[in-house]
Amino acid sequence: MELQAVEKSYARWAPIYDRTFGAVTHVGRRRATALISELGGCVLELGVGTGLALRHYGPQVRVTGIDYSAEMLEKARAKVAAEGLATVAALRRMDARDLDFPDESFDHVAAMHVISVVPEPEKVMSEIARVVRPGGSVVIVNHFARDRGALAMAERVAAPLANLLGWHSDFDRSRVLGEASLTLADESTLPPLGMMTLLRLVKVG
Ligand SMILES: C[S@@+](CC[C@H](N)C(=O)[O-])C[C@H]1O[C@@H](n2cnc3c(N)ncnc32)[C@H](O)[C@@H]1O
Repeated sequence: MELQAVEKSYARWAPIYDRTFGAVTHVGRRRATALISELGGCVLELGVGTGLALRHYGPQVRVTGIDYSAEMLEKARAKVAAEGLATVAALRRMDARDLDFPDESFDHVAAMHVISVVPEPEKVMSEIARVVRPGGSVVIVNHFARDRGALAMAERVAAPLANLLGWHSDFDRSRVLGEASLTLADESTLPPLGMMTLLRLVKVG
């Protein structure tokens, strides 16, 4: 999606996100935050949205969240304030293609339901690879295009509606695997129906 379309789409989504898409995608958020909490350290959550994952990080994690949508970030800030989430170090408005952080400044990066939304996902992967330290994990939760079957057909039919939906329904998994410094360590499909996949990449170095 283009950045302007992201802005427009998520301004519309923000008031209803937690009760709609957010409510049916909690498994991926729970798995990703559990995995990262076990690892501990300084974490960047890319495309933090309304902050639905934030309350699930363990106390051994310090999270910085970024998102481009002011409306989504406002919801995340309200959750942090209401719940007194001490694990959250900062929430900042930023384009994931141009992260305002030094090289290797995070132990781990999480990107949940984001990579098929951002413009230029390859550029975002390259920024992720730059800001994570060697040995650090990158945890991605996303829906990836299927090769065949009725769902693959539905994904292709919905693809031209990306700007309206707020994500690309036919996003190819290979687009997150092109960074030479990030190797695939784990992959699992998530319930319900295996719609989402969790990938853990590790930065070599
Ligand atoms: C489907 S929501 C996912 C939110 C959250 N990660 C979750 O699991 O509920 C996608 C988010 O990506 C954000 N986003 C899209 N493009 C972005 C960009 N270039 N930079 C930062 N955030 C972006 C949107 O604003 C939106 O909040």
